[in-house]
Amino acid sequence: MNIESEYSTRIEESPVVSSEDSDLSKQEMQKKTISGFSKLSKRAKLRWVAEHFFTEPEAVIRELKSFWHGDEQQQKVIDDFSENTISNFVLPFGIAPNLKINGKTYAVPMVIEESSVVAAASSAMKFWMNRGGFKAEVIDTQKLGQVHFSWSGDPATLRELFPQIEAKLRADAAPLSKNMEARGGGILHVELLDLTDEEADYYQLKVSFETCDSMGANFINSILEQFGKSLQEFVAEFPALKDEERSVEIIMAILSNYTPDCLVRTWVECPVEQLEGACKDLNAAGFADKFSKAVRIARIDPYRATTHNKGIFNGIDAVVLATGNDFRAIEACGHTYAAKDGQYRSLTQCEVKDGIFKFWLDIPLAIGTVGGLTKLHPLAHRSLELLGNPNAQELMMIIAATGLAQNFAAVRSLVTTGIQQGHMKMHLLNILNHLGATEQEVKDAIVHFKDKVVSFTAVREFLDWLRGKAPKLAE
Ligand code: MEV
Repeated sequence: MNIESEYSTRIEESPVVSSEDSDLSKQEMQKKTISGFSKLSKRAKLRWVAEHFFTEPEAVIRELKSFWHGDEQQQKVIDDFSENTISNFVLPFGIAPNLKINGKTYAVPMVIEESSVVAAASSAMKFWMNRGGFKAEVIDTQKLGQVHFSWSGDPATLRELFPQIEAKLRADAAPLSKNMEARGGGILHVELLDLTDEEADYYQLKVSFETCDSMGANFINSILEQFGKSLQEFVAEFPALKDEERSVEIIMAILSNYTPDCLVRTWVECPVEQLEGACKDLNAAGFADKFSKAVRIARIDPYRATTHNKGIFNGIDAVVLATGNDFRAIEACGHTYAAKDGQYRSLTQCEVKDGIFKFWLDIPLAIGTVGGLTKLHPLAHRSLELLGNPNAQELMMIIAATGLAQNFAAVRSLVTTGIQQGHMKMHLLNILNHLGATEQEVKDAIVHFKDKVVSFTAVREFLDWLRGKAPKLAE
């Protein structure tokens, strides 16, 4: 369909402002309201947005279209990930090389918009490469889901019947779990929890799963919804419950993103004297002492812990995103895990004992290397290929080690130079880029700003001076 005609069809259908309605803000609001937006073509959606929310619609359309993928097939794949798409939002795809884990070396793909993160990860990876590299082990891989329900009958009856209920749940779900079982996974444990002390009549089926190399959200949710139906059927049909008040209500059935038993541990360690060179102003023992103190502070104080963990997730999210995994799920889980003993704490820990410096991270990571976006997104697919097509356990180790590397780099900077030094260099480069600086101008600016405060105005003034547009530099 022609874009313009499709668009004008929609405009005719959009709300008409009544003549009595003289309130300007209401008119404004109506102009920005539309029904049936999702039914417009992509081009028409873009035009509607551009014309209703921007002062230069044609320029906006041109700009957003410039981010469309050149290959229509690829663009269609990307569009289908979500809804109402009008363009693609581009983020840098960078590489942190030299991550050695358990003797194997990786070049890690990272998708992140924040400057210095990839550089920091890379420097920490290189630092540890010569000190034994990172070690990692997957402690467990269980995923979790819950069926939340109300039962108004006798709790004892429910408990007594539970073995029979569980047998029915498993039997009814067998067709759904067949394929996963063939891959070595499936439903692990089904537990009945009585939570009536917290909420009247509230019970829960807490179910654990093994989902092998997939994140398993669809598998888990399908099984849980089936469990809900089967539970209702059981109560409706079981003869011994005839005289009971047979009231079971399924409130919801959904996986839990808190997966404390889908856990990976990663660590670096070396004799303290090998830390020589980690910082030019401190000797090895001084660095180990100050660094471990900074990590302990992040375990004690939730304000510091939040920023400390944010630094860990700078690394983790970037790899999770690059490999097509769900970073919201990973973040939510990590933060809950950080508060597992009742106080929000640092996810990493550090110990200096018997002359050995050890720094480690325990983190639950429910990720996948098959299913979801992992193969559909062209760059996620390439990321996995770059990592040697790891299975889910190997990817857990890579992601965790990148988080630990990131944290090592951040805390090392914080306890030595401070982070502004590195940040400001990147900031300077971003400003120079923005102002269209040449290669020579960049070199000159780096020398000039070595001992000066970087700001947009200062950089612009410097370039103006360099380009002969300003007679002298402002003090
Ligand atoms: C910035 O994105 C991350 C840091 O603030 C982390 C930290 O403070 O540990 C540098």
